[in-house]
Amino acid sequence: MTEQNEIINAFIKLYGGDSSDVRVFSSPGRVNLIGEHTDYNGGFVFPAALSQSSTVAVRKTDTGCIRIAATDLPDRVVLDINKLADYKNLSWGNYQAGVAYVMQQQGYYIQSCDILYNDTVPFGAGLSSSAAIEVVMALTLAQFSYEKGVTDIPNMIELAKTAQKAENIYCGVNCGIMDQFASAMGRKNHAIFLDCKDLSFKYVPLDLNGYKIVIGNTNKKRSLAESKYNERRAQCEEALSQLKLAYPDAECLRDISADQFEDAKTLILNDICRMRAEHVIFECDRVLKSVEALDKGDLRAFGNLMTASHISLRDLYEVTGNHLDIMVEESLAIEGCIGARMTGAGFGGCTVSIVADSAIDRFISEVGRNYESRTGIVPAFYITEAGDGGREIL
Ligand code: GLA
Repeated sequence: MTEQNEIINAFIKLYGGDSSDVRVFSSPGRVNLIGEHTDYNGGFVFPAALSQSSTVAVRKTDTGCIRIAATDLPDRVVLDINKLADYKNLSWGNYQAGVAYVMQQQGYYIQSCDILYNDTVPFGAGLSSSAAIEVVMALTLAQFSYEKGVTDIPNMIELAKTAQKAENIYCGVNCGIMDQFASAMGRKNHAIFLDCKDLSFKYVPLDLNGYKIVIGNTNKKRSLAESKYNERRAQCEEALSQLKLAYPDAECLRDISADQFEDAKTLILNDICRMRAEHVIFECDRVLKSVEALDKGDLRAFGNLMTASHISLRDLYEVTGNHLDIMVEESLAIEGCIGARMTGAGFGGCTVSIVADSAIDRFISEVGRNYESRTGIVPAFYITEAGDGGREIL
């Protein structure tokens, strides 16, 4: 049975009625191949959408409420459409409420509806489960608003921005645009080379000739990730404000080249802020070089850039932590693994590695065993299939 049939059946069991007026929308998580903590600095990122997703079955109602349930949670959430500002502190459902709230402010018609979520993106693992939840909510509400004749056909990039805004102003995480963009705009078998300054982008085929992208989940839950994330962002802003003494036209760290940074870095008074800026500026360079390497089919160069990215995130940006470092170290020790790094915000979560087809079984068993013996935690591995972005499943 397909996921679509299963979720429709579960929906009917929960809310009653039949399947004739139940629709299904879906939006994926993402893995970022390289370009970490660059998006909110106007930099480059290189994510791919996953096949794991947040899928909803939904039916329009006339109750004045959005009722939300999830296949893996016992509680249901009821959002009164006239009180959407009031749900910031829900233990779950605040991402959805935030999206509905922001869209209402933007002039969308907010349709009463019953929703059932089925999430297959592992939660809190750095694979953007929250962006998947937000983007599918935004897509569903935008489609209903369009059908009501209030707004235009949903534009996926605008919806990504709306979802990001919900996370920023409603959920208190000052995230950049990468996750929501990848979730909205993903394309099967492709990664997205995205310029976060103007949102220009290009799809890059993921032809990895004899290699695969393997995600390693440390299963180490991220702790204090939100406050540390916002702190990193503030440190970048401080560094930029001081570099502007030399480069007044720079609007973001990405506008400063590696050479310019070397010339002016002493303007940054705080050592930590200087390290953060160094990571961002050189990471942007690594993304450009990675896309070039993939264009030329030079996978080894790409792998080396990924590993350099991890080292920079570990030593300069300080967002890796023991578990991610151990998993990357164990990954790189396997012959056939040509690059490995953490992916996402860090502080726990997942790694991403490029592994030769012939080495994948050994990679999973040996990295799994060694990681477990060093940390006491059993990890999980997923072989990435780049999937499509947010859409209605007909
Ligand atoms: C999180 C954020 C993104 C991005 C990454 C780090 O996933 O949501 O906007 O900043 O961290 O690259």
